Amino acid sequence: MKLFDVYPLYDIEPVKGFGTYVYDASGNRYLDLYGGHAVISIGHAHPTYVEAISRQVSQLGFYSNSVKNRLQQELADRLGDLSGLNDYQLFLINSGAEANENALKLASFHNDRTAVLALHKGFHGRTSAAVRATDNLKIQAPINRGVEVTYADLDDLDAIRALLHTHKYTAFIAEAIQGIGGIHIADGEALLQVRQWCRETDTVFISDEIQCGYGRSGRFFAFQEIPDLEPDIVTVAKGMGNGFPIGGVLIHPRFKAWHGMLGTTFGGSHLACAAGIAVLQVMEKEKLIDKAGQLGTYLMDALKDNAGLVDVRGRGLMIGIELDSPVAALRKTLLFEKHIFTGSSSDPNVIRILPPLTIQKVQLNEFVQVFTELLSTTPAL
Ligand SMILES: Cc1ncc(COP(=O)(O)O)c(C=O)c1O
Repeated sequence: MKLFDVYPLYDIEPVKGFGTYVYDASGNRYLDLYGGHAVISIGHAHPTYVEAISRQVSQLGFYSNSVKNRLQQELADRLGDLSGLNDYQLFLINSGAEANENALKLASFHNDRTAVLALHKGFHGRTSAAVRATDNLKIQAPINRGVEVTYADLDDLDAIRALLHTHKYTAFIAEAIQGIGGIHIADGEALLQVRQWCRETDTVFISDEIQCGYGRSGRFFAFQEIPDLEPDIVTVAKGMGNGFPIGGVLIHPRFKAWHGMLGTTFGGSHLACAAGIAVLQVMEKEKLIDKAGQLGTYLMDALKDNAGLVDVRGRGLMIGIELDSPVAALRKTLLFEKHIFTGSSSDPNVIRILPPLTIQKVQLNEFVQVFTELLSTTPAL
């Protein structure tokens, strides 16, 4: 059987990883500034993580959501403590798209509406309502277009106010820092204003923290940079499992569950919870959230001295480097010649830096040196 050929692949095959590095079969070492798409939070093969998953799979990897699973409550407690959202309720699933899909369903159950208000350049996943809320018509199949979505600009607050006050939107969904869109930090005042209008119109405010959350921005959630912003629903995935598929929907206490309202076979399995608990333990013990904030500022300051950059922006270890021309060739050189993984974005001129939160200063320095050299020696990138 052939693989369904939907991914343009680099001719590289990592076969193992440790910390901030991955290795191919010939033993070549690659610095991972991409984190496997913002997924690797506590580093590849972290010993605490390996031990926790190995122990759990040798006992019980999976049983269904029809029985008690105390690991789910332990994960919820730890997540509540570390994020400060202790009074929220947790629903566990397997991916980011599923997190947003369930968040949108919850909103619709809550206010009995069907339209969604989303932002231009946002990305929310590939499932039906989530992909429809994603501002990219190319990846929406006709079947997805059944959900009515309006895309707005956060700097056009008049339009957003008018739209919300039609009372037809079930939810407003946004990333506090847009990832795939090219690392754009949402304006805090604008989000607070939209939050207020959502309250007035009973529109559910969903903060998609799938890429910018879980410590990456230097706070547990990127929206927490905005004082007093209180989303109704927060969605998480990616860094939550450090590569083990797990996602979560964090739900404000005013939303009441009823049996059968949401459900999943695999979500919240014993193995997924063991992975999720290990991630939170390591994040807390190694103070990775504070470190992400400090190292991000350090890296952005170091890069800003480079001539030829249009912009360096972001928070913590979620950084966009914008050039005045497409970055594809530069990223290839970084990967194939310098053995450094970086991320692309939907903006062809922006490189995304999304390393494991365990990265060290010395590795960032290594990148800055290589990057500076390449910028100064490569004509017309
Ligand atoms: C902000 C955001 N939301 C949702 C998703 C979808 O997550 P997944 O690919 O796990 O379904 C992504 C994935 O890149 C994302 O960056």
